[in-house]
Amino acid sequence: MPGGGAERHEVSYDRYSLTVDGERVLLWSGEFHYFRLPSPRLWRDVLEKIRAAGFTGVSLYFHWGFHSPAPGVYDFTGVRDVDRLLRMTDELGLHVVARPGPYINAETTGGGMPAWLKTVEGRARSSDPGYTAAYREWLSRINPIIARHQVSRGGSVIAYNVENEYAVNVDPAYMEDLQAQARSAGIDVPIVHNNCCGGSLANWSSGRGAVQIPGVDDYPQTFNCHDPDTWGGWGDGVTRRLRDDAPVYAAEYQAGAIDLNDAGYDKCRELTGPGYMKVFYKSNIIESGATMFGYYMTYGGTNWGWLAQPNDVYTSYDYGSAITEARTLTTKYDEFKRQGYFVGSVAPLTKTDESPAPTPADPAVATRARANPDTGTQFVLVRHADRRTSADVSTTLAWSTPDGDHQVPVRVNGRDAKILVAGYDMGGQRLVWSNSEILTHLPIAGRDVAVLYGRDGEPGSTVLRYPSRPTVRVLEGSVRSSYDGGDLRLDYTHSGLARVLVSGGGRPPLLLLLGTDETAARFWRLDTPAGPVLVRGTALVRSAHVAGDRLALRADTDRAGEVEVFSPARHLSVGGRSVPVRRTASGSLLGSLPGPEQVRLPELSGWEYRAEPPAHGDQGWTTADKTTTASPIKPRTLPVLYADEYGHHHGNVWYRGEFTANGAERKVVVNAITGRRGVYLVWLNGRYLGSAAGGTQADSEPVNPDPGRGEFAVPPGLLAPGQRATLAVLVENMGHNDDWTADDTRFKQPRGLFGVVVEGSEAPIAWRIRGSRGMDGERGALNIGGLHGELSGWHLPGGGRWQRSPDALPAGVSWYRTHFELDLPRGHDVSLGLRFDDTGERDYRVLVFVNGWSAGQYLHRLGPQREFVLPNGVLRERNTLTFAVIAEEELPGGPGPVRLVTLGNHRTGG
Ligand code: GAL
Repeated sequence: MPGGGAERHEVSYDRYSLTVDGERVLLWSGEFHYFRLPSPRLWRDVLEKIRAAGFTGVSLYFHWGFHSPAPGVYDFTGVRDVDRLLRMTDELGLHVVARPGPYINAETTGGGMPAWLKTVEGRARSSDPGYTAAYREWLSRINPIIARHQVSRGGSVIAYNVENEYAVNVDPAYMEDLQAQARSAGIDVPIVHNNCCGGSLANWSSGRGAVQIPGVDDYPQTFNCHDPDTWGGWGDGVTRRLRDDAPVYAAEYQAGAIDLNDAGYDKCRELTGPGYMKVFYKSNIIESGATMFGYYMTYGGTNWGWLAQPNDVYTSYDYGSAITEARTLTTKYDEFKRQGYFVGSVAPLTKTDESPAPTPADPAVATRARANPDTGTQFVLVRHADRRTSADVSTTLAWSTPDGDHQVPVRVNGRDAKILVAGYDMGGQRLVWSNSEILTHLPIAGRDVAVLYGRDGEPGSTVLRYPSRPTVRVLEGSVRSSYDGGDLRLDYTHSGLARVLVSGGGRPPLLLLLGTDETAARFWRLDTPAGPVLVRGTALVRSAHVAGDRLALRADTDRAGEVEVFSPARHLSVGGRSVPVRRTASGSLLGSLPGPEQVRLPELSGWEYRAEPPAHGDQGWTTADKTTTASPIKPRTLPVLYADEYGHHHGNVWYRGEFTANGAERKVVVNAITGRRGVYLVWLNGRYLGSAAGGTQADSEPVNPDPGRGEFAVPPGLLAPGQRATLAVLVENMGHNDDWTADDTRFKQPRGLFGVVVEGSEAPIAWRIRGSRGMDGERGALNIGGLHGELSGWHLPGGGRWQRSPDALPAGVSWYRTHFELDLPRGHDVSLGLRFDDTGERDYRVLVFVNGWSAGQYLHRLGPQREFVLPNGVLRERNTLTFAVIAEEELPGGPGPVRLVTLGNHRTGG
């Protein structure tokens, strides 16, 4: 475990696992994106939750574009302070797979590459000199930060991931240089890569550019959340071994899904729920022998500001993951905990070879096995032979365990899989076999405490070996025991929580806790310098500290209930408060804790209004006169009007085009590229002509030659011959495409106007452009676009001339704001959301700002999101909520009813 101190450790590996100072390490990591949670305080919250589920590590992308608004400009302060992030993982003892790209994909704008790179000549993700200079600049900033947090320097970084699913259009010289850059910056931990897709695509396991530990990404459940019952549509999800001399690495293993078809993330959570996790994760552990895992995502977060890549996602990146966007824990979290505690407790799992599996009497059940060559411990996977079936099958395994041949009854009911263990030195005990699964076991106060579990109502048996007959006391539940020739056999039905105390027999005492899936998931295991501690109850235990005879917990509760601790301590405090306890027959301490207080939220009222006229004001405009572009996609008309060419990379962009009218103009034909769900609005001489959906360029050939076309009739009499005519166009930039194909064709697709023709006019149009530039203070470059209100700071709390809102908003941009005060119970963690309830058929969208932070974009008609998580890190007692409303038509009554909602409420105590 990384210690956060100055101790230096040596990280190495062999075909079985990573090692730290020669000790085998099982890397069970969850993916977390700091850039999708704009609050370092909440990074710690999520990391503590990840750790509490038994994860031993986290997989962290580092987002180049999030830190770099312009060439040569890098920011690692505030919500971009990744050194702070890595200090947290150091302190929390979570191993880190550092993934700085330069390309990360991740459904984020540009796949993590900065938008300014779109204007750099030379193919991205290649060894082209233009691109090389750019990525070396990024690596020269990020690598030293990562390097100083390596396990080898007393920190937490245990592996370094170069590139991301670099599979097609590959350039080995580039892969080689990424590694050379890392090494010369002092990266000395193993270098890994996450391969995708299998087949003949590059996986970097051999040849020029090969990495030390090639890993594989796998999303067996697909991304079709509309059909959550689907089962393994993209394969069996068994991670391939890519190198004989390196561990098998499941680099990204599906733990949620992007909501490609707008089904909503709850459906994605169902698609990747506990049944899937049991069958696929456990099968993979045994069938592949992997000892390195990264589960994507464990906490998804929010595409706040302009973080989203528009083709695949929207504001929420909840991902249907185990920890919701509002930071609450789900039944998926429970399943992660059951598996994470197991893989983290049973050390022989770090070194296994495939071994003969016991034969089931009923071929409807399939088994696979692995064994540790040093200890002989066997791990047997039991599941349906046909993965798809949800039958209920009971059968018997003829199992040759290290401790003799046994007939082991097993049951597989529905979507289920188990990993059963035999021949295991479980602390001071000898587990011969069990058909219950192991949650964890730990030595506490001179005895072994072990938690085993099975599905509610299923029969269970556990056999333990003793030199002489032990004494068995059933403290709770119904458990039968028999002793025969050295084997103590316990038979029971999994139900609630049974407790058995076994003493004597020539071994240290054993407290055996036999639970169900649900009761097992109520346990929390914590390691303290004074030894491990087991806690039952509460919604979360963040940390444990032993001082003298007192155990101090930091724990969250979501309801009133029991707390039970197994520890040598005699006193308990939770959240800084002493908790009265009594000693139980199990030797534990039992107390009770209050649940959270009720939350009362204010209504949102007293809205103020401010108009933003089209292409307002004379400040900050740039003449748009470029005639060439680095984009492989050339514009329809000149000058080039791509926003990126003028340094405006994120959000909305205003254009002003002036020409001399002749009176015969018939219509304005516009092409604009925005990315999916984008829009643009057109005015002529202040008159609103209308809007059109922004275009996308096709991801593959043929490229759309006529993207986002809109035709707008010129109203008769609007233009007079010889007079100046002014076009005003607002174009939204929904974010930048990724570059999965590493060939620039998606990534360098422009944003902004693609062509403008005024039919009936030959007059040249003089264009100017205005958009966002650089940083918005602490909130960074992705927080705002180029609305006049944004550039003037209307989204920030403060004064300004705001008025009563009119009865109907005009088409175009209007600003709204209100203030609200929060009086949340102290010592609580309350997650809040903002809900839009408008059911009208109107076309508008809203940029939501809370205290100046962009919380996302509500697309009234296009959806799918109606509820937006407001990150606690930016909420205060007194808050300003500001909307930039972009209406494509007149909007009577404004943007409709909106309210605050509670998405989570926990008493945290401090
Ligand atoms: C992988 C990729 C990740 C993410 C994921 C889907 O292919 O490496 O960055 O995009 O797919 O969510």
